[in-house]
Amino acid sequence: MIEVPNVKEIATGQASGKIILMGEHAVVYGEPAIAMPFSATQVTAVIRRSQEDFLDSAYFTGPLTQVPQSLNNLKELIYMLRQDFAAPPLLCTITSTIPAERGMGSSAAVAVAVTRAFLAWQQVEETPAGLLHYVNQSEKIAHGNPSGIDAAATSGTEPILFERDKPFHAFPLKLDGCLIVADTGVKGKTRDTVRDVASLMTTNPQQAQRAIQQLGDLTRQAKEAISANQARYLGLLMNEAHTLLQSLSVSDPTLDQLVQVARRNNALGAKLTGGGRGGCMIALATDAHNAAIIANQLENAGAAATWIQRLGYTPAVPVSL
Ligand code: MEV
Repeated sequence: MIEVPNVKEIATGQASGKIILMGEHAVVYGEPAIAMPFSATQVTAVIRRSQEDFLDSAYFTGPLTQVPQSLNNLKELIYMLRQDFAAPPLLCTITSTIPAERGMGSSAAVAVAVTRAFLAWQQVEETPAGLLHYVNQSEKIAHGNPSGIDAAATSGTEPILFERDKPFHAFPLKLDGCLIVADTGVKGKTRDTVRDVASLMTTNPQQAQRAIQQLGDLTRQAKEAISANQARYLGLLMNEAHTLLQSLSVSDPTLDQLVQVARRNNALGAKLTGGGRGGCMIALATDAHNAAIIANQLENAGAAATWIQRLGYTPAVPVSL
C-alpha cells in the first residue's frame, strides 16, 4: 500500500509589520512597551514540496544552503522546522511589503509567515506558544538579544502591552489622533543598537539604567494617557522618549531631522520607532488633515515613504501626494 503523507500540496502563511509606540530598547531590560501590528505592510510565505530546500524572495533566490549571512535566521528556522516535524525539502516563496531593516519587525514577520505556512503545510495546529517558540529562536539569530516584542506584535492583530518573559495583553488603543509613520530610507541595525545599549549599561551604568527606567515610566504614563484619550499628553511623552533614546545613542541625524520636521508642523509628539539609527520614526497628529500635512512635509524633507494610521479606528493607508 502506498503511504500518503499527511501534508498539504501547498500552504500559505501571513504576518504584518509592527510599530512600537513606546518602550523600544527599555523592553529588552524588562520595562513595558506598547506595540501594534501595522497592517499596511504585510508578508506572505508560500511553502510546497521540492527536490531541495530552496528560497525564492526579493533578497535572494536559490538553494537554502547558499543564502547570504543576513538570511541565516531564515535558513536556521526552516532547518529547525523540517527537523522537528521530519518534513521533506521545501520551496519557500516570500513576498513582502514590509521594508526590511526599518524597525518594522520585518525579520520577525517573515519568521511568523514562514512558520505559519510550514505548520499549515504539515497540517499541524498553530498555537500562539508554538508559533512564538520558533519565531523567537529565529529572532535570536537575527538580533542577538530580542525581547520578543517583534514576534508578539507581528503575529497578532491587536495592539499589545508587552513585558519580556510575561504573558502579554491585547490593549485597546483607541485615541482621537492619527499616527504618521515615516521611513528614513536608511537601513536600521537593530542588532548593533541593542548591542550598543548593552555596552552603555556596562560603561555608563548609572546613566543608562536611569534612561531605561525613565523610558519604562513613560510607557506606563502613555498607557494611562491612551486610556483617558489624552492625545496631547501622549505626544509630550513621545517627545520625552525620543530625548531618552537619543541619550542611549540609538537615534541619528536623519531620524532627528524628521522628528523636528514633524514637530514644526504641529505634531503633538514625534520619536523614532524600533531599533533606531535609520529605520522609521512616528509622529502623532490631532486628526487626518493634520496628519496628511505632516506626512507631506516629511516626504519633502526626504522620508522614503509615509503611512497614516488612525488610532484604533481604521487600517493604515499609504499616503499619495
Ligand atoms: C526592535 O523592534 C525593538 C528593540 O527593543 C529590540 C527588542 O525589543 O528586541 C530595539
